[in-house]
Amino acid sequence: MTTIAQPSDVSSLLRLDEGFVHSDVYASPAIFEREMEQIFHRGWVFVGHDSEIPEPGDYVLRWIGRQSVIMNRDSHGAVHLFMNRCRHRANSVCQFEQGNSAFFRCAYHGWTYKSDGELVGVPYADGAYEPQLDKAGFSLVPAPRMAAYRGFVWGSLSAEGPSLDEHLGVAAKRAIDLFCDHSPVGEIDVRHGANKSVIYANWKFQGGDGYHPPFTHQADFGTMRNQRAGRTSPLLGMIKKDTTLSRDLGNGHFCLDLRTMGRGPLPDAPWAKEYLASMIGSYGAERAAYILNSGGPHSILMPNIQLLNPDLRVLRPIAADQFEITFYCAFLKGVPKEVNTARLRLTESRMGPAGSVNVDDVEMFERNQLGMQQMVEPWKYIGRGMARERVDNDDAAPPEYRYENCRVAHYSDELTQRAQLRWWAAQMERP
Ligand code: FES
Ligand SMILES: [Fe+2]
Repeated sequence: MTTIAQPSDVSSLLRLDEGFVHSDVYASPAIFEREMEQIFHRGWVFVGHDSEIPEPGDYVLRWIGRQSVIMNRDSHGAVHLFMNRCRHRANSVCQFEQGNSAFFRCAYHGWTYKSDGELVGVPYADGAYEPQLDKAGFSLVPAPRMAAYRGFVWGSLSAEGPSLDEHLGVAAKRAIDLFCDHSPVGEIDVRHGANKSVIYANWKFQGGDGYHPPFTHQADFGTMRNQRAGRTSPLLGMIKKDTTLSRDLGNGHFCLDLRTMGRGPLPDAPWAKEYLASMIGSYGAERAAYILNSGGPHSILMPNIQLLNPDLRVLRPIAADQFEITFYCAFLKGVPKEVNTARLRLTESRMGPAGSVNVDDVEMFERNQLGMQQMVEPWKYIGRGMARERVDNDDAAPPEYRYENCRVAHYSDELTQRAQLRWWAAQMERP
């Protein structure tokens, strides 16, 4: 494998104008180290949604790259993002993935911090420090930057660099808007369990691949066909249609744009009528119909969050050939409970341990990683659709959800992978 020492070496691993990427981009431990440094420890990393910590004292334990961080709400309701590191001898102060506590007490020597980070307890301090220990100088340390958009919280370990606003750009924010606006009050609720697993493949295998479904998910489509009493799944036909697109949302973010596929009417049930009425009340008939028929965004936002309605998926890279993925079902606020029950069943049935979709993808990702370790012909081809890329202004979408001035290609084209890698190269080469 290539040993990457200098940023300038990264460009030698990409021949995107010809549609090729070198396998080391996905398999080299040296590249992975540089990604940790340049992307995960310098840039914005999604850490959680503020609905996960609704009450004073609530906390969740998360990661920014290799750094353990605590996202919590203090007793006054303010959200914090603290480095999980005691100011005494650097033990972690929080061990549980989630919980509620007015204090974080380090298990090593008992230093104790309030939920706003203030050090309030140092056991047996009398006579031990001369002059007396100035506790104010030993508060928990916040992540250098924290920022949020519609309750989605990101952290950055670098005090410098582009703002979250700049990192997301307009199109990614519109994807988040479409995701949240399935709620008549525009808010999601991410507190209803999670399904976490480790995939033995590179974290950049993030999907967004419209070419694979008819093959990788053949069995799932067969099941859907049976459930639909012999009708063919609409997914099987879409690879032949040209109304569905792959879309470069800028800054490495991308989506499979399924909004034109249509989702069909809501069920003929009282709860569905109630939901539709509340959506029309909030957004007006035209926009409500657009939201509900869109199926939501199918978007992948660099470096570690995916919005595939109703799932919120979060990635944590562990090694060049290993990442963790957590699936959450995003509940909608302000809707009849049947809406959220249906969303949860959908997440479970597709992405759960016995789900019909994720297991197929994991198998493909892991087989693909084996291919990345082959040394004889290390170039992988992602040139599909290069000649049919064009700029699109998404004129048919309402202005609130319009993806303006984005490069698009056919749904099955590898534009998404090329978009991701162009952004990736720019991050890796940043001085
Ligand atoms: S390391 Fe935390 S109290 Fe000593
Ligand atoms: Fe898939």
